Amino acid sequence: MRSIKLGTLFLFSLLSFTALGQEQEDKIAIIPEPVELARTEGFFILPEEITIKSASTPEVQNTVNLLRKRITTTTGARVNLSTKDDAIIRLQLNTVGDLVLGKEGYRLQVDHKTILIKANQPAGLFYGVQSLLQLFPKEIESEKLIRKTSWRLPCVTITDYPRFDWRGLMFDVSRHFFTKADVKKYIDNMVKYKYNLLHLHLTDDEGWRIEIKSYPKLTQIGAWRVNKTGQFGTFSAPLPNEPRDYGGFFTQEDIKELIKYASDRFVNILPEIDVPGHSLAAIVSYPELSCTPGVEKYSVRSGEAIMDWSRGAPPIALIDNTLCPANERVYTFLDTVITEIAALFPFEYIHMGGDEAPHNFWQKNPSVKELMLREGLKTMEEVQGYFTRRVEAIVQSKGKKFIGWDEILSGGPSQSTAVMSWRGVEGGIKAANMGHEVVMSPSTYAYLDYMQGDVAIEPKIYASLRLNKSYQFDPGEGITDLKFIKGGQANLWTENIYNMRHAEYMTWPRGLAIAESVWSPVSKKSWTSFYGKVEDHFKRFDMAEVKYAPSMYDPIFLSTTGPENTLRVELSTEIPGLDIHYTFDNSFPDQFYPKYMAPLIVPKDAGTLKVITYRDGKPIGRLITMQVSELKARIKKK
Ligand code: ACM
Repeated sequence: MRSIKLGTLFLFSLLSFTALGQEQEDKIAIIPEPVELARTEGFFILPEEITIKSASTPEVQNTVNLLRKRITTTTGARVNLSTKDDAIIRLQLNTVGDLVLGKEGYRLQVDHKTILIKANQPAGLFYGVQSLLQLFPKEIESEKLIRKTSWRLPCVTITDYPRFDWRGLMFDVSRHFFTKADVKKYIDNMVKYKYNLLHLHLTDDEGWRIEIKSYPKLTQIGAWRVNKTGQFGTFSAPLPNEPRDYGGFFTQEDIKELIKYASDRFVNILPEIDVPGHSLAAIVSYPELSCTPGVEKYSVRSGEAIMDWSRGAPPIALIDNTLCPANERVYTFLDTVITEIAALFPFEYIHMGGDEAPHNFWQKNPSVKELMLREGLKTMEEVQGYFTRRVEAIVQSKGKKFIGWDEILSGGPSQSTAVMSWRGVEGGIKAANMGHEVVMSPSTYAYLDYMQGDVAIEPKIYASLRLNKSYQFDPGEGITDLKFIKGGQANLWTENIYNMRHAEYMTWPRGLAIAESVWSPVSKKSWTSFYGKVEDHFKRFDMAEVKYAPSMYDPIFLSTTGPENTLRVELSTEIPGLDIHYTFDNSFPDQFYPKYMAPLIVPKDAGTLKVITYRDGKPIGRLITMQVSELKARIKKK
């Protein structure tokens, strides 16, 4: 009797577990949220033989091949191309334009037996395919063959198109070098979330990463530094006998391959050559680009301090990492570099940096003083403005549009120049009001190098940006006429990112928040629904073996002074429904430890507060050990 009961119970729980699992699997969690999505009745069950009919243009064929590869790799189904109208999956280009969809929109219909994607342009079909893949069970992300009893997709009707044309991620391949394979992998992940622009930060103090045939030393010398590990920015200066064997660069053939790879996935690559600051690698390779004596002794930065930021921006340079604005050879150099860049990259813009150029070496320089007299320049800002306008003219002479960080605005750039707003959104708002095209990439919402949680657990960086803050990003914020706002992007600076796994960790899930901010209508954004979808995508990342940050599960600490000068700690979480368990006794808390219910008063002699979050009786956050001294110090900082 007892065993029957237990057996029945077991069967019941198995059934309900399976039902729950299935329900979970059937949940629709598309990121970025589509403009319109209607769940229709029933499911599409993937047959073992699939036929795809599509337009025969090469661009559409690329999309079909990517879809075909994904399905066969993971499900093992046979996928054949067909010319028949009864094909199971159809990718159709509209013969009469569908005005709602624009260049990148699509309509996707999943019925019991067929899947239909319609778009005006091949890019729309590609994005329709991305949404379709997100309707598949998470296992579709795997590179392995997965045996499932059935691959089923909920039936839906979707109409979708982007809010902004420019949906970018910036990848800094200079501070740490990332290979061609890494960049391809980065592209593979970004396109799943309908990003269409990869900004490659190709040059900086730590490395010049693109072959320039006319200036071979840029990559023979400028691409290499001493390999150092730890907290970047605090390293000892490289010694003359230390090997400069860390680094690398892309040959022009590599770049062509990356451009083709990106273009097959509807991604433009924006090259950035960052001048006049951040130019140490170029100066070490060609010291004549500087007008400061003694630069021949410099080396490519290996992570030692070269700037003093204590007085804010622009920084005080400890060594001169700027190109000389008063030296005609600099403009000849840039003309040649830009000629090669313009010939290589088909994208209509070239990014010429312009950020954080220190002026203290220019201030002392006789040739800069002469330039100021000659050109009637009164301030160092005006000197930089002069430099920017000269570089702008070079870029335009190659048939390209100039884009730069928001510092370029003070130089009075010409109307066709675009501004990338990074010091908050103010520069972007100002530029848009002046009629410049603007890309919003404010550090306040979109800096992927910032910590995603508390420094007690995250790799230390000077600033933090949590997922829920990133999700509040709206490139249209404060703008009356959106006409000049091209879109937005998030930036992954890599001073402290040593490898691809960590690049992924820093990009996801905030990259999901930014993707939704640049694609979805504001009315469709909801934090509550978003973080739930993020959890579904964590499972997809697991399947794809892509790393992501689970920081949203970790608590937030706020310390204040309590009664009678005690230390009071408030704990909260970014997402609801988590239990925080804690202890001051140095042991490891679990769900049998006290649960946080109200602000804590730290016991007088406690040295650490250890916390961990649980959900439904299972640990979900990471164990965090917070020093009481740190909590005290945080009160003082306020
Ligand atoms: C920047 O973050 N310096 C553009």
